[in-house]
Amino acid sequence: MIENTSRQVPKEQIARQLDCMEQVSRHNALLPEKPLFFCQTFGCQQNEADTERIAGMLAEMGYVRTEDAQQANVIVVNTCAVREHAEKRVFGIMGQYTHIKDTRSDVIICMCGCMVQQEHITEKIKKSYPRVDIVFGTHMLWHFPELLLQRLNGSKRIFAISGDPKGEIAEGLPVQRDAGCHAWLSIMYGCNNFCTYCIVPYVRGRERSRRPEDIEAELRCLVAEGYKDITLLGQNVNSYGKDLGIGMDFSDLLARLDAVEGEYRLRFMTSHPKDASEKLFATMANGKHISHQLHLPFQSGSDAILKRMNRGYTKESYLALIAKAKEYMPDLVLSSDIIVGFPGETEEDFQGTLDVVRQGQYDVLYTFLYSKRSGTPAASMPDGATPEEKQDRFNRLLKTQEGINQQRQDAYQDRELSVLIDGLSNSKDGIYTHCGRTDGGLLVLVRGDDLHIGDFVDVVIEKTSLRALYGSVLGKGYHG
Ligand code: 5AD
Ligand code: SF4
Repeated sequence: MIENTSRQVPKEQIARQLDCMEQVSRHNALLPEKPLFFCQTFGCQQNEADTERIAGMLAEMGYVRTEDAQQANVIVVNTCAVREHAEKRVFGIMGQYTHIKDTRSDVIICMCGCMVQQEHITEKIKKSYPRVDIVFGTHMLWHFPELLLQRLNGSKRIFAISGDPKGEIAEGLPVQRDAGCHAWLSIMYGCNNFCTYCIVPYVRGRERSRRPEDIEAELRCLVAEGYKDITLLGQNVNSYGKDLGIGMDFSDLLARLDAVEGEYRLRFMTSHPKDASEKLFATMANGKHISHQLHLPFQSGSDAILKRMNRGYTKESYLALIAKAKEYMPDLVLSSDIIVGFPGETEEDFQGTLDVVRQGQYDVLYTFLYSKRSGTPAASMPDGATPEEKQDRFNRLLKTQEGINQQRQDAYQDRELSVLIDGLSNSKDGIYTHCGRTDGGLLVLVRGDDLHIGDFVDVVIEKTSLRALYGSVLGKGYHG
C-alpha cells in the first residue's frame, strides 16, 4: 500500500483565513467607496486557476475587480518561471506598477507564483523593487488573506516563501472564475518528473492529488452553476492518485466524473506520454462528456535528447502511443509541446523532431526555444549549436507545422461539428458574429440567428483558415 502523502490543510487554519477575510472586509466596508483590485497572470492554466482563487479571496474581502491597474488599491502579479522571457516581462511590468506609488503611495503591490519561489528572484525583489509590498510563493497562496491583513495593519513588507510543506492541499476557500462558460478544475498540484530542463518541480513541489470526492463535488457545483466546458488541470494528470493510496488512477477518476449528469464537456491537461495508457484512451472513447482532445507533449523526436531530458519514452514508443489513441478516437484533436535547441541538440536530432511532427499530424503545436533555468540539470549540460542555428531550426519547425495545419483545417470543410458558443467574435466581416469550440477544442467562428453564450449548436463548416474554422448553424442541442 502506498502511503498517502497528500495532506489537507487543517480546518482551523482555513477558518483562520476566513476570519482574516472577515476582518479585511470590515475594514473595507468603512471606506467611502469599494476598493478595487487588479490581477495579472503569466504562464500556464494552473496559474490562471490560482489567480481565480486570489480573486475569489479579494472579492470576499470586499474588493471589486478592475482591468485598470492605475485605479487599483491592490495589484497582484502571478508570475511564471518556465522560461526566461516571461521573467523579463514580469520585471518590466513591475517597474510600471511600482511607479503608481509616485501618486498613490497606499496601493498594495503583490507578487506571487513560480518565479518568486526562486531565491535569486526574491533577492532581486528585495534589492531592486523596494515598493513591492507582499511576495508570496506557490505554497503560501492560501495564506494570502492573513498576509494582506498584516500589511494593512502596518507590518513591514512581507516575504512569505516556504519550501514544499509535505504536499498540502487547501480546500474550502472562495474562487472568482472568469466570466463565460469555461472553468478550470485542479485535480492535483506539483510534479515529480524532473525533466532536466524544467523548473516546475522545484517551484511547485511534489505531486499531490485532491481527493476524488472533493473534485467531484466541485464538478457538480460547476455544472449546476452552468459551466459547460470544464478542464481538469494538473502538471501531469496521468499520475493522478499515485499519492492517495486508494487504488484510483486518472482513468478511474475520469470515469467517475463522467458519470455526473448534465450538459457539459470535460477536458484535461497535461498528459505525460510515459504514463498515458490504453485504459485512458478507452475511457475517453467510451465517455459521455469527455472530449476527444489530447495534449501529449513529446518535446523532442531524438532518443538521445529524450534520454538527456529524462522523459522516460522513445520516439518509437511515443509514435505507437498516439497511433493507439487515434485507433480509439479517429476524430482525436491532438496537440503537443516541443523544445528546440536543448543543450547538445544536433541537426540529426532536430530531423527526428520534424519526423514526429510529420507523422503525428497535430492540430496544434506549442513550440519553444530552450531556455536555460538555473538550478536544473540541463543548465550545466554542454551545448554546441549557435543561437542562429537554433532560431533557424525553430523557423523550419514552424514552417513544417504550418503546412500540416492548413491541411488539417481544410479537411474540416463541409463537415458537421458540435460547437459550444463561448463568446462574440471579432470577425471584421460582421457575418460570423460568435465564436466557439468544437469537442476537440478547435476554434470556430459561427453565424446563425438567436445565438447565446453557452449554447451547443450543430455547425456545418463552410470555410477554413489557419487560425479558425467558419461555420453556419444547422440546429441546436447537446449530444454528449
Ligand atoms: N525551455 C523551453 N521550454 C520549456 N518548457 C518547460 N521548460 C522549458 C525550458 N526550460 C516547455 C515544455 C513544457 C511547456 C509547458 O513548456 O515544452 O511542456
Ligand atoms: Fe516540467 Fe516535465 Fe513536470 Fe511537465 S512533466 S512540469 S515538463 S518536469
